[in-house]
Amino acid sequence: MKFLFADWAAKNGVNIHFSPITPALPQWLTTFLGNRIYLQGMGQKKLIRFAAIKTFANVLEYPAHMQGNWCGHFKNDHPVVLELACGRGEYTVGMSKLFTGKNFIGVDIKGNRIHAGAKKCLEEKISNAAFLRTQIAMLPQYFAANEVSEIWITFPDPHLRTSKAKKRLTHPAFLRMYRQVLKPGGFIHLKTDSPDLYHFTKKVIAMYQLDCVEDYDDVYAQTDSDVLKIKTHYEALDIANSNRIFYLKFTLPAVIEDKDELLQQVLKDTENKPVHEQAD
Ligand SMILES: C[S@@+](CC[C@H](N)C(=O)[O-])C[C@H]1O[C@@H](n2cnc3c(N)ncnc32)[C@H](O)[C@@H]1O
Repeated sequence: MKFLFADWAAKNGVNIHFSPITPALPQWLTTFLGNRIYLQGMGQKKLIRFAAIKTFANVLEYPAHMQGNWCGHFKNDHPVVLELACGRGEYTVGMSKLFTGKNFIGVDIKGNRIHAGAKKCLEEKISNAAFLRTQIAMLPQYFAANEVSEIWITFPDPHLRTSKAKKRLTHPAFLRMYRQVLKPGGFIHLKTDSPDLYHFTKKVIAMYQLDCVEDYDDVYAQTDSDVLKIKTHYEALDIANSNRIFYLKFTLPAVIEDKDELLQQVLKDTENKPVHEQAD
């Protein structure tokens, strides 16, 4: 329902030209569209971007039949690397230029954000990058077992409340889902400005005996890796106000045990301690 108008406009080849103030839309139009509140609350730029990505060959929205078929999309069998919560896709675009022998797919639910990265790739004729608009929880519907070589998670929402820990993209429930599509030994990379998410992920790595191969609690002071120099929109916003960037690179075992209740209890027991006092 939400994307009704953008879908209809794209399917019918209609260019959207709203007046700058969306509430000035004629009432007959909002009534006809049946979602007046949504349209009045949504900027025209967003609607235009939603309609535009439907015409982009490098954006796939909830696609059918892609599981096991990404080599067909890229017309080669190069390794496939995902950027989860890609937003505007700075890592997808940046890594596709740094590593031309790999294919990159930015995954996000927000089409208007994906628009920025996808447009850049089209303008710069980057053929080893694509964008998938979907919920991250649906990844196994779009990728076959072992189809993914690496996963980057860039500045995801930290979901600071302990009761929301299961929504963190490095929670074991998500790691089990990544395990379904990731090649054995495939790396997971987390780049974040959130000390809470960094320490939470270290706790998960320790509790579930994951193999951590790189760990920086101040990226720009500790490494000059080119890939870690790519800056994202949210990195620049510094929402966590931490003044530093954290990075973890780790692999997953074949089976990730279910100790999730114990993890939740540990989180509850330590939630009132300052983050730097919480043992990793
Ligand atoms: C804080 S932003 C970071 C965006 C980008 N990586 C950056 O650093 O600028 C988090 C992004 O995750 C996306 N996101 C959050 N939960 C998601 C989910 N379950 N499935 C798909 N995307 C999700 C949001 O739409 C948003 O673009």
